[in-house]
Amino acid sequence: MKKVFLFTGVIALVFSAGALLTSFSSQDLNNSIPEDVMKIFTNSCSKCHSAGGSGIAMTHVNFTKWGTYSTEKQAKKAADISAVLKVNGMPPKSFVAKNPGAVLTDAQKDLIYKWSASFNVK
Ligand code: HEC
Repeated sequence: MKKVFLFTGVIALVFSAGALLTSFSSQDLNNSIPEDVMKIFTNSCSKCHSAGGSGIAMTHVNFTKWGTYSTEKQAKKAADISAVLKVNGMPPKSFVAKNPGAVLTDAQKDLIYKWSASFNVK
């Protein structure tokens, strides 16, 4: 009987350690995107560009995995994002039609351009 208790005890320990680690790593996600910028992405882009979103969209930009991108990759993605926003290419028109609140204001775009320019990588 003692062995069974020990066994379940070990299992419980492994699970809680695992849960702790998972919660830490999900906190780390997006750590590199400043809060004010991330707020915009969450409001206008995350529906498609983060876990549970659109498969094709996530191959381009996946905010859930942002923290796993190298700095070079982040810089490149940030530049892609700026380029797309400059031509009002995102969010897609069909999405904006149903979600007018997802349209970025000029001030929001400026914030993203500045963030993108702050990457010092070529
Ligand atoms: C309704 C879903 C949806 C939303 C919301 C959305 N996207 Fe996209 N995005 C897509 C899809 C789908 C693609 C892939 C298009 C393709 O490959 O033709 C894409 C592609 C992109 C690309 C790569 C395009 C390229 O030519 O490099 C960038 C960058 C991007 N999105 C940024 C954003 C940003 C920033 C936002 C928020 C302001 C946003 N997206 C909101 C669906 C979405």
